[in-house]
Amino acid sequence: MQIESGTLLSRAQGVLATNNQGTFTVPSKTLYPHQWQWDSAFIAIGIANYDPRRAAAEVTSLFRGQWQNGMLPHITFSPGSHDWEFWQASRSGVAPTDIQTSAMIQPPLPAIAALAVADKLTGDEAQTFLKSLFPKLVAWHQWIYNERDPDGSGLAVLIHPWESGIDNSPAWMEVLRLSAKSPWVAAANKLGVAWLIGKLRKDTKLIPTAQRATDLEELRMTHRALRFRKRNYDSHTQIRKSDYVVEDLVFNSLLIAANRALLDIATIIAEDLPSALSYRFEQTQASLEQLWDESSGQYYSRHYHTKELIKQPSLATFLPLFGESVDFGKAQKLVTLLKDPARYWTNFPVPSAPLNSAYFDEQRYWQGPMWVNTNWLIVKGLLNYGFHDEAKQITQRTLEAVTRSGFHEYFSPLSGKGYGIDNFSWTAALVIDLINLKL
Ligand code: GLC
Repeated sequence: MQIESGTLLSRAQGVLATNNQGTFTVPSKTLYPHQWQWDSAFIAIGIANYDPRRAAAEVTSLFRGQWQNGMLPHITFSPGSHDWEFWQASRSGVAPTDIQTSAMIQPPLPAIAALAVADKLTGDEAQTFLKSLFPKLVAWHQWIYNERDPDGSGLAVLIHPWESGIDNSPAWMEVLRLSAKSPWVAAANKLGVAWLIGKLRKDTKLIPTAQRATDLEELRMTHRALRFRKRNYDSHTQIRKSDYVVEDLVFNSLLIAANRALLDIATIIAEDLPSALSYRFEQTQASLEQLWDESSGQYYSRHYHTKELIKQPSLATFLPLFGESVDFGKAQKLVTLLKDPARYWTNFPVPSAPLNSAYFDEQRYWQGPMWVNTNWLIVKGLLNYGFHDEAKQITQRTLEAVTRSGFHEYFSPLSGKGYGIDNFSWTAALVIDLINLKL
């Protein structure tokens, strides 16, 4: 299919203009009317291609929500809504008092976005921008290691699927299913409270239920979030007491890339990183290899407490390529896996779960659909290792799906049909970036 990139570019900019709130961009005006951490990073990377100053404001605005202890929450709420009330972030004692936020995290992309944006600014502007962000970024990365690396291995742990960015993906749902022995959830499910959760959900009012996480998955996730809230968002207590603590592959792969971006930023502005922090960066890179499973030739997330790999395949296995910490032999094995038509090499690759997974469903959120943000990460990862043809094919099929179906949240990996909400910001932003790669 012939892609009219000029038309696609201007349509994409139109979507971002619609969702623009001045200094930040909401993922969707209807479904997600607030600022999300990794969304804003992807959005800034896209906008930097045509308006670097606005892109700089996008990254800077993310830090409005930063907690006093350095934590960067996954949502910063827009004024005038009551969606923040669920979180009660003030229980932590360190949340901002002038703005409402969530109390969990998301894959740490801001340093990567800051570097990409700075690259498009003039020299002086880039210096000012990076200098003002640097201490905030350092505080964020320090928080990750202080609060989420309890055994000092370098691998960060997550305590909730929402923190992985790929919410209901198979590995997380498997752990949730097996560990959700809570009598509360069982009773609630029996009494049909899962159904009630369904009634209270906003997403299924806008999107067909077959395209979203199930009510039971949602109930289990909400229950887990409430437990963390009860512990006043104290990560150490949560990690000690919960059986649901995961060394997550998405988060750690992107952390490796973000750490490298932070080191580059320090060099550009001639600042030093605390040496203890640089040491932790090296540990993360080395420890990621513990998540490799030689027998199946892929990476998995791992249980923190038992150190067992969670052998539920998903596209997360390809993200270490983005972190560029993988040796070439493993990269080749991953590309062979990627190009297997019985698993990931569909008409519109890359599905979020492989075709042969028991979880695979071509329209259900992170259990099958193709997403533009993960495709962008995989394309960049492939390019890191010189797999130009594969990167080009994924890029073309992604642009084709968007041309045919619009700027949807996710797409059928089989037909390219659009699912989830339309006019979705990171789809628009990363289409712009993919076109600009000129593959
Ligand atoms: C969903 C996605 C998450 C994203 C958010 C806002 O929760 O799973 O990755 O950040 O929506 O777009």
